[in-house]
Amino acid sequence: MLYETVVAIDGPSGSGKSSIARDLASDMGLLYVDTGSMFRALAVVVLERGLSPTEENIDKPFLDSLRLEYGISPEELIKINGKNLTESIREHHISSMASKISGFTTVREFLANFQRNLVRQKICVMEGRDIGTVVFPKAFCKIYLTASDKIRAERRLKQLREKGQGSYKFEDILRDVRERDENDSKRALAPLKQAEDAKKLDTTNLGYQEVLDALKAIVLKSAKEKDVEL
Ligand code: DC
Repeated sequence: MLYETVVAIDGPSGSGKSSIARDLASDMGLLYVDTGSMFRALAVVVLERGLSPTEENIDKPFLDSLRLEYGISPEELIKINGKNLTESIREHHISSMASKISGFTTVREFLANFQRNLVRQKICVMEGRDIGTVVFPKAFCKIYLTASDKIRAERRLKQLREKGQGSYKFEDILRDVRERDENDSKRALAPLKQAEDAKKLDTTNLGYQEVLDALKAIVLKSAKEKDVEL
């Protein structure tokens, strides 16, 4: 196989990836895969079990003992050992634990395998940090979505307010966004970076529909060029 049948969308947190990738997938009849939700779900389990987040604790036997299920429905996006974690992964305090454990080789290998298995079943729009660089280096379409840190913090604050978690201040969210950018892009393993053959789209000054239209055009063009049937 020359190309892997996945649209890989990478970028920093708050770049608008999640909602846009979901709508792109649904418009094109493809499976939407939010890989951040997987790191978050593992973070929920680590916190629930009171494990200290070290690579020795979150080792392969521990990860292999977890039964991960993805994408049953939007309400049951992610489950571990039969427990639906779709709501709890979005709580604000989960983000930093997810970012922390995402630096562990054990966690990255476990989730990369899980993600590769999903693509064997269906063409996916998969979003994350290392999808085009590490998990699917031969993806037929790679997109790097980004935006200024201030606009990403604004979007995040809006999301939290919509969910009734409105007590956060803009400065605190901006600091979190910057810390996560630093953590995600400076880690030794699979850091966040644009793949050389990815198309970059800066969404700072673009509206939602403009971004969606631009993404669709990129996917269709890549599919045509690479002879991938959608
Ligand atoms: O996209 P998100 O904010 O839900 O991701 C949560 C954390 O998981 C983020 O800090 C980085 C990490 N992550 C990763 O390292 N690799 C991915 N493919 C997706 C997310």
